[in-house]
Amino acid sequence: MRFGLVGTGYWARVTHAPALACTEGAELTAVWGRDPHAAASLAAEYQATPYHDVSAFLAGVDAVSFAVPPDVQAAIATQAARDGKHLLLEKPVALTEAAADDLVEAVAQAGVASVVFFTQRFQPDVRAWLAEVETRGGWAGGASAWLGSALRESNPFNTPWRRDKGALWDIGPHMVSLLWASLGPVTSVSADPGPADVTHLVLHHQGGATSTTTVTLSATEAAAGFQAYVWGDSGRLAVPLGSLDQVAALSIALGELTANARTGQTRHPCDVWFGRDVGRVLAEAQRQIDARHAARTAT
Ligand SMILES: NC(=O)c1ccc[n+]([C@@H]2O[C@H](COP(=O)([O-])OP(=O)(O)OC[C@H]3O[C@@H](n4cnc5c(N)ncnc54)[C@H](OP(=O)(O)O)[C@@H]3O)[C@@H](O)[C@H]2O)c1
Repeated sequence: MRFGLVGTGYWARVTHAPALACTEGAELTAVWGRDPHAAASLAAEYQATPYHDVSAFLAGVDAVSFAVPPDVQAAIATQAARDGKHLLLEKPVALTEAAADDLVEAVAQAGVASVVFFTQRFQPDVRAWLAEVETRGGWAGGASAWLGSALRESNPFNTPWRRDKGALWDIGPHMVSLLWASLGPVTSVSADPGPADVTHLVLHHQGGATSTTTVTLSATEAAAGFQAYVWGDSGRLAVPLGSLDQVAALSIALGELTANARTGQTRHPCDVWFGRDVGRVLAEAQRQIDARHAARTAT
């Protein structure tokens, strides 16, 4: 399957391009970037063709892998789906509910396959943990925190959209996706902001379980880290903290996308519908946070 890569930045170089190059059944044939020099340089490393025109880029591929900010992704992915291309999307799928709805509509109309790269959902050790969670059952709740340091000056993830949207939209999708998969669909969210971009979420899950998560991108490296567990009658089960091989995880996602595309299967546990639903939780949390900030400013 001929893949085009959208984006030429750090994440495209260290994860998407190498994963595309090592995935059986996938071939990186085209690179699109707004910077022609960056597109030419990344394309040359993989004997791919660089493009500046989106329509010309899409014309020569069967599927597209995205490594650009979410608002940029949503617009190009909607066009790609309308052109019949299968989609390997990044989280969050979009920054507004309207843009996510447009993307879902385009995917549904075209009948293309989609997978959103919620990284942990493609890690073998986390998948084994989720299988154990399902086997044991009877969970009452979960607790989690991801204290990231992406907004520190020298961090390669200190990018404009993260500075603007903060941890809720960058790390929040991973946490909501993981808690959703382990405790059931999220039916409601309560959000409260802390200092800087700290966000606390309380999630209610279908079936009655409740969970919490705290996210930030402003932690110092000394404080940074991830932890999550579910708890219930059978005890407590923590998400494994093994080292993350992001290229291997993305290669699994790409393999599942290409398999679905070949067999005409459009649904996947992490498809664009799921990405849209996770985004709705974030959007509701954002509304509550904005309201709280407005109320605090007014007093
Ligand atoms: N799943 C994960 O674990 C994970 C981890 C990291 C990132 N991601 C996702 O990957 C995506 C990109 O990550 P990032 O923000 O860190 O980006 P990045 O790697 O810094 O790269 C951003 C790319 O987007 C391009 N770009 C920026 N603004 C643009 C615009 N307005 N129009 C067209 N192109 C534009 C940049 O071009 P220039 O080089 O010209 O600026 C660059 O090629 C995000 O969706 C993020 O959530 C996921």
